[in-house]
Amino acid sequence: MKPVKVGLLGLGTVGTGVVRIVEGHQHDLMNKSGSPIEIAQILVKDKSKARNISVSEDKLTENAWDIIENPDIDVVVEVMGGIEQTKELMLAALERGKHIVTANKDLMALHGPEILQKAADQGCDVMYEASVAGGIPIIRTLIEGFSSDRITKIMGIVNGTTNYILTKMSQEGAAYDDVLKEAQQLGYAESDPTSDVEGFDAARKMTILGTLGFHANIALSDVTVRGISKVTKEDIAYGKKLGYEVKLLGIAERQDEHISISVQPTMVKQSHPLAAVNGVFNAVYVYGEAVGETMFYGPGAGEMPTATSVVADLVAVVRNSNLGVNGRRGFMPYKEKKLKTDEQIAFKNFILLHVEDKAGVLAKITQVFAEHEVSLESVLQHPNQANPLAEIIIITHDANQASMNKVLKQFESMPVVHAIKSVYRVEG
Ligand SMILES: NC(=O)c1ccc[n+]([C@@H]2O[C@H](COP(=O)([O-])OP(=O)(O)OC[C@H]3O[C@@H](n4cnc5c(N)ncnc54)[C@H](OP(=O)(O)O)[C@@H]3O)[C@@H](O)[C@H]2O)c1
Repeated sequence: MKPVKVGLLGLGTVGTGVVRIVEGHQHDLMNKSGSPIEIAQILVKDKSKARNISVSEDKLTENAWDIIENPDIDVVVEVMGGIEQTKELMLAALERGKHIVTANKDLMALHGPEILQKAADQGCDVMYEASVAGGIPIIRTLIEGFSSDRITKIMGIVNGTTNYILTKMSQEGAAYDDVLKEAQQLGYAESDPTSDVEGFDAARKMTILGTLGFHANIALSDVTVRGISKVTKEDIAYGKKLGYEVKLLGIAERQDEHISISVQPTMVKQSHPLAAVNGVFNAVYVYGEAVGETMFYGPGAGEMPTATSVVADLVAVVRNSNLGVNGRRGFMPYKEKKLKTDEQIAFKNFILLHVEDKAGVLAKITQVFAEHEVSLESVLQHPNQANPLAEIIIITHDANQASMNKVLKQFESMPVVHAIKSVYRVEG
């Protein structure tokens, strides 16, 4: 039987796992896909680099075009990362009729529509299961498992680094800077952690999930992003007292045909399954009109979990080839994108204020909420031992963002309000 030939772009963490699975599971993969799968060529930056897997020297190349222009290569598996140069290579591979499997969320979040359109034009497959939540098969689940349903909400813990930091802060009462430093020493956070801690990595993943869930082309710029670098151990402690855990949640919501999408640190009720997702684990909660609540949990990164998703895509491509259906049922958004306005986006809020500790202040504060028609679920006040100010914690009922912005603006100009210490979305 003629093997399907794979050109692997990248032999780092994920690429190494891909080689291990393809070589180690040959018999199973052949039976599942219908053909033997052979990794014929591998792109690396530096051929002389020491590797923790042995591959035949003559398969390695430092020139991507050796693979893209090789007529024997049927499928390009892209696990090298990068955006603009990688996009050029992907479009060139599709132009030559090669199918693509990629783990690259940056590429798919920024250029997904163009790449998917090219694939459709060429009758090729593009699969990207590993690009969101590494080892969790969430993309296939959204495309196929939920094809009968109408999804109204997707909430994801889709960045392991930030979940590790927030979990440590919660479990040990530690400060953000200390935990970040420790995460960097352990290799859970990059030396430049900006993309993770400021929420940009999660935003890219939510762009992909939102597009899949709501069948409209969500752009990265549609995602409102706030990271975790300003989350304090005090916020976490107050949250816990009130029954919440702080999690960096990506939230994509649809009401009628209007969509909102955001990434932000969120107070999640401890009884909600997302509150129990700890450490570097990922989870995606999906609410469908027919199915109700579902949640998918697992490793969001790492050599073998991520490679599992990549090779599953490879099996799907080979199976499609054997059935002669490549490119026939690729995912294509078919709905017009309509984003919610601030008047339409509504959720519960947690607000921590430092106010003057004297009679009548609480009444003034609650009056501001009433003026802007924001109703309150609970108000807690207690003196702060460290200074003469009182702390007030307010949890609102669902309030639209436009009204909340007006409330906060008014607080900024009130002499009795010394500081708006923190504001969080509340879920669960
Ligand atoms: N790591 C994870 O757990 C994970 C999870 C989900 C998704 N992903 C995605 O998977 C992709 C790969 O991640 P990774 O962690 O495996 O990266 P990595 O360990 O840094 O490996 C990258 C590989 O690509 C090669 N490479 C990079 N740029 C190249 C270039 N311009 N020309 C030739 N070769 C090049 C490198 O060659 P050398 O070996 O010679 O340096 C290396 O083998 C990224 O898009 C990432 O976002 C990773």
